[in-house]
Amino acid sequence: MKETLLHIQSEAREKVATVQSSAELEVLRRAYLGRSGVLPQILRSMGKLPAEERPVIGKLANETKELIEQLLAQRAADLGAREQEAQLAAERIDVTLPGRGGSIGKKHPLTLVTEEICEIFTGLGFEVVEGPEVETEWHNFIALNIPPDHPARDEQDTFYFSDDLLLRTHTSPVQIRTMESRQPPVRIIVPGRVYRRDPFDATHSPIFHQVEGLLVDEDTTFADLKGTLTAFAQKMFGAGVRTRFRPSYFPFTEPSAEVDISCIFCNGDGCGVCKQSGWIEILGSGMVHPNVLRNVGYDPEQVQGFAFGMGIDRIAILKYQVNDIRLFFENDLRFVRQFE
Ligand code: FA5
Ligand code: MG
Repeated sequence: MKETLLHIQSEAREKVATVQSSAELEVLRRAYLGRSGVLPQILRSMGKLPAEERPVIGKLANETKELIEQLLAQRAADLGAREQEAQLAAERIDVTLPGRGGSIGKKHPLTLVTEEICEIFTGLGFEVVEGPEVETEWHNFIALNIPPDHPARDEQDTFYFSDDLLLRTHTSPVQIRTMESRQPPVRIIVPGRVYRRDPFDATHSPIFHQVEGLLVDEDTTFADLKGTLTAFAQKMFGAGVRTRFRPSYFPFTEPSAEVDISCIFCNGDGCGVCKQSGWIEILGSGMVHPNVLRNVGYDPEQVQGFAFGMGIDRIAILKYQVNDIRLFFENDLRFVRQFE
């Protein structure tokens, strides 16, 4: 019995010393001191010893138990300290690292251009108005002097929900809606999204954006149209920019003109962007057709108007020198974040 206890002592010394974690140490504690552990078993069997051996062996057994408790406590303290150190090292925060900073959203380039256009026109006395993207045939075509069989419909082929409901092909229907609900003078601009069955290529998108303008008042002339749009072009693209009014055709204006600005990249000398012409087209415009005025209940003998419509995406392409309209719709943050 004595040998057994001495053996237990030396074995415990060795085992406790080699244990590497608190969890392993706990396993060891149970093996020696747990309810069915080695030492309790020995202590329980003490009664079977001859009476004269009992005090000696009993004492040795108690000493062994105390020794093991001491060894375990000592090792537990060492391991605890070591484990805490390891944990602190693992959770260490390097306060000298640069902060992560929240990322701040930016306005989309098309939003920036729209806001700039609206700001220029509100400065000229125009009011910003919006209209629905799902339109009636009346507002999108018929009231704008585009009857059902008119070839201009092909040019603006679109998406229909029914014979009468369609995705608007331009912002011009908001001219009709506004005039139907107000009396002149009318001075509005209309930013918005429009839809056409167009290809998705570098300069076309089936969804794009326009800003419409409409002014109706007494004694409105083509000179007002020229002056207003030239003032806009110079505010938008620079004071030195010149404008050119080219005869054109829209069913809802007469006469009609497409407006070019002198090329902002070569100042009109001719370059790749303006295809050597020195001019870049920015919008369609004209004097509101008398039929359109009649369609909304205005008297063309009393009031006249001018209207214009520009493609925001194309203006943004010019302003930011972007070479592909699709970039505005892909929403790659590396692209969208570049604008301020
Ligand atoms: C119109 O939509 C007329 N409503 C403009 C107008 C208003 C004229 C008032 C007179 C009076 P147009 O179809 O040309 O016209 O389109 C106007 C502009 O939209 C074009 O100059 C171009 O900048 C832009 N645009 C047209 N189709 C696309 C497209 N698929 N992708 C991007 N921009 C386009
Ligand atoms: Mg056109």
